[in-house]
Amino acid sequence: MPWTFGGVSSGRFGAKAAALGRDPRPAARAGPRGYETIPGVNNQTADSPFIRACRRQPVSSAPVWYMRQAGRSLPEYRATRAGTAMLDACSNPDLITEITLQPVRRFGVDAAILFSDIVVPLRAAGLDIDIRPGVGPVLDKPIRDEDDVARLRGLEPGDVAFVSQAVEMLTAELGETPLIGFAGGPFTLACYLVDGAPSKTFDRTRSLMYGAPALWASLLGRLTDITITFLQVQVQAGASAVQLFDSWAGIVSPEDYQRSVLPFSRRIFTALASAGVPAIHFGVGTGELLGLLGEAGADVVGVDWRVPLDDAVHRVAPGKALQGNLDPAILLAPWPVVRERASEVLEKGRTAESHIFNLGHGVLPETDPDILARLTDLVHATPAGSAR
Ligand code: CP3
Repeated sequence: MPWTFGGVSSGRFGAKAAALGRDPRPAARAGPRGYETIPGVNNQTADSPFIRACRRQPVSSAPVWYMRQAGRSLPEYRATRAGTAMLDACSNPDLITEITLQPVRRFGVDAAILFSDIVVPLRAAGLDIDIRPGVGPVLDKPIRDEDDVARLRGLEPGDVAFVSQAVEMLTAELGETPLIGFAGGPFTLACYLVDGAPSKTFDRTRSLMYGAPALWASLLGRLTDITITFLQVQVQAGASAVQLFDSWAGIVSPEDYQRSVLPFSRRIFTALASAGVPAIHFGVGTGELLGLLGEAGADVVGVDWRVPLDDAVHRVAPGKALQGNLDPAILLAPWPVVRERASEVLEKGRTAESHIFNLGHGVLPETDPDILARLTDLVHATPAGSAR
């Protein structure tokens, strides 16, 4: 069985002490296709199904992982987190490591995603931001003018030493299973900083973007620098891929996205290109933006559940893998419904040059972990195949 219950580790992750003694970052060597891989890149995972699919190389079945796979739907997560505030857990390398491994042990997913949050680098860069349980990120003094932007200093790698340490421990434990590092996109980070709290439409953020373009540019410029450093830290410590969560980018029009958001996201993917790891670009409600998300420069475009993958294929220029896109709410339905809908996603995914199975957004806390286990097995049991 690829998964086990109750945080009992499988043999793969058992020899923790021995594994920790290994250097997770082997020296430069020729990659599977003969290209020279660069030091700092985790070469152990280069031939894993997830990395191969990111690079649009053939795989026997679609690789699968889930956004928010580590979280409140898992009893072992709730037990580990009990009594510890979210951002305290995100600053503790042992807790980060344990929580990140939980869904890999339980489901046998094809990738781990670092347990952290998009606001972690902002807090590490000195901002007084917190995550309120059941609410999300809140900032008592939202950013509204140039003086507020000046409060946002740059991020030094040493500010997030706990992340580097966790990534090193994780890559040693994970072996050939890739670890995905991540960051929030500059637009989504700005949403929380300008509105000061979660919202459906982030009206203050959009009005600042329209009405104060110079202030917007200086805010997003700083957030872009912080994001680049945060992602580089994770890659240098051994992360095999990165995902940029620009979750709320879908609330602006394509024209405004192109003018006021895309240049910053593009700068992130350009800066990351030399790191040699695949990059994924994801947002919610981005049906009208999928082509532009691809243009920003990632290898993989994440699709939410509103656009079928065989339609998304036509919205994204050739040369990209697609990730997605089962509606997370489908997992609350009976298993035969999940099976049918997941099979449809896999079928439509065959029209893409390459497909990574995922949900269209994060796992809902009320999801039954057994359904996720069955879903993972179903994806693995379905042969991949490109219709192209
Ligand atoms: O995917 C994973 O398993 C990795 C963990 C992860 C978390 N946050 C942990 C978390 C990731 C990738 C994120 C990213 C994140 N954080 C995003 C982008 C992804 C998305 O969902 O669109 C956003 C917008 C945030 C901001 C944020 N943090 C929100 C809106 C919330 C939810 C508030 C709530 O309690 O419902 C958080 C808190 C948070 N981040 C939790 C987790 C597991 C829940 C807190 C808890 O367990 O107490």
